[in-house]
Amino acid sequence: MSFNSEYKNRTEYVESVLKKYLPEKEGLQKVIMEAMEYSLMAGGKRLRPILMLESYRLFGGEGMIIEPFMAAIEMIHTYSLVHDDLPAMDNDDYRRGRKTTHVVYGEDMGILAGDALLNYAFETACSAFDMDEADPRRTGRALQILAKKAGIYGMIGGQVVDVKESGHQIGGDVLDFIYRLKTGALIESSVMIGAVLAGASESEVHTMEQIAAKTGMAFQIQDDILDVTGSAEVLGKPVHSDEKNEKTTYVTWKGIEESGQEVARLTDEAVAGLKSLGKNDKFLEELLRWLVYREK
Ligand code: IPE
Ligand code: IPE
Ligand code: MG
Ligand code: MG
Ligand code: MG
Repeated sequence: MSFNSEYKNRTEYVESVLKKYLPEKEGLQKVIMEAMEYSLMAGGKRLRPILMLESYRLFGGEGMIIEPFMAAIEMIHTYSLVHDDLPAMDNDDYRRGRKTTHVVYGEDMGILAGDALLNYAFETACSAFDMDEADPRRTGRALQILAKKAGIYGMIGGQVVDVKESGHQIGGDVLDFIYRLKTGALIESSVMIGAVLAGASESEVHTMEQIAAKTGMAFQIQDDILDVTGSAEVLGKPVHSDEKNEKTTYVTWKGIEESGQEVARLTDEAVAGLKSLGKNDKFLEELLRWLVYREK
């Protein structure tokens, strides 16, 4: 099967898992369930749950326990986008090919929809404890990773510095810090959780974390490149958002060409790390490489 059809199969599987775990739209607060679905089911590459699943399978995982965690990571990622697009942050009107959540539901509901997705992510992940196959220690460890990588030492921490430093000239060390946290952390958590739930050793989990750190970095640099060279139609989000917000990015720092070389270099390192595990996962390797050449 070609990479594209394998990727499509997995995307469809992720969407079915998301549908399974979405809350019913009911009660006086129904609008928030609608806003959650609006942002979550708008498409997107579903990269994080796919990486999580692939890592789970890489270490021999065969159960269903991965599903609530796949849903949870995509909910957290989606909440981070809903809040990232708010007027107080990047102030963007399009996401995943549609009007952003706050534009459609109002800023108040946009904020609450993000909060709701974040909390519901943990509610969903905790439901793994109710599954017969659950190993409480592994499940607890997976939750711990999810909480930490999404929080002040992870995605939120990176977003804080990203926002605080908008409009300022910053050096490469601060830029690397921002990318490692705002984008790297959730990607790291994805592969780590897959590995943990499959019973990988701590050192294997650590290797996966390092591979994902490279991939996360490459992914964000490519995102910066596409913000300059891409098209809104293909990306499903506005271009030149970084310039509008006076962000220092890899592109403003090193230029397009050198940034592209950095993406390729980091990806080679990630693939080498994967090979060092001595496991053969052609799809995962192709996925890591695809992320470099992606156009959306
Ligand atoms: C966008 O993430 C935000 C970044 C971390 C660069 P994605 O590019 O994975 O967004 P979707 O999920 O495909 O919409
Ligand atoms: C966002 O980085 C990273 C998040 C944690 C949401 P960007 O602000 O560059 O992401 P896009 O370009 O809006 O998707
Ligand atoms: Mg941003
Ligand atoms: Mg943004
Ligand atoms: Mg961007």
